[in-house]
Amino acid sequence: MSPAPRRPFFCGNWKLNGSLAESVALATDVRNGVATLRGVDVVVAPSFTALHAVAKRLESESAGPVGVAAQNCHWEDKGAFTGEVSASQLADVGCKYVILGHSERRQLFGELDAGVNLKARAALRAGLAPIICVGETLAERDAGETLGRVQAQLEAAVADVSEADLARCLIAYEPVWAIGTGRTATPGQAQEVHAFIRARLAARHPGLAASLRILYGGSVKPDNVRALMAEVDVDGGLVGGASLKAESFVRMVKEGS
Ligand code: 13P
Repeated sequence: MSPAPRRPFFCGNWKLNGSLAESVALATDVRNGVATLRGVDVVVAPSFTALHAVAKRLESESAGPVGVAAQNCHWEDKGAFTGEVSASQLADVGCKYVILGHSERRQLFGELDAGVNLKARAALRAGLAPIICVGETLAERDAGETLGRVQAQLEAAVADVSEADLARCLIAYEPVWAIGTGRTATPGQAQEVHAFIRARLAARHPGLAASLRILYGGSVKPDNVRALMAEVDVDGGLVGGASLKAESFVRMVKEGS
């Protein structure tokens, strides 16, 4: 059976960067830069404070819309959870996606696999598409534990998610040692893990795995994206540093799609 075509998907994860004005300006420049592209999904993930304004700026775009993602959410819909933001609140301000389980959240804020699962299910209930991040540390890679770690994170994150809901998820493989370090995984290293992720998903959902999009993240840049995208199971990128300037992000989307 030939695999289903998978539309390339690029998400700029702006992390903790940008004033309101800067975020709206960057989103506008990205939108203008990709306006003529077809056959690729482009998403930006500003800070919570800029989500509404960025979504408003982007919503009127008729040709080739740029989507909006949040960088995290809480798993409860409402209640006494000071400082948290719910998935339904994100949907309410115009988000279509939410990045979950990013390694910075896991490493710096103690996020656990079980919490990522709760958040993914909350996001799906709210109508958002979760972008679920998995990836090993350098110590885990050096110890030969890459695939085991990725499998544990993946299977925990999608536990009790129905096949119909899984079809709305994206998976992002982000080796921790490649994030913000300038050290990209080689295309071969990325492909090995992406193929593994697809195979694990296929074991549970044979009809679905060929159409799920698996993104690579970790020092993706305009000059390395083409080689990564040439790998059969690499369907797009989750991009940090190179997404903070419209020129480099747009060039990367063009190179990669
Ligand atoms: P860099 O592209 O800056 O390495 O960040 C990757 C990342 O963490 C995207 O979520």
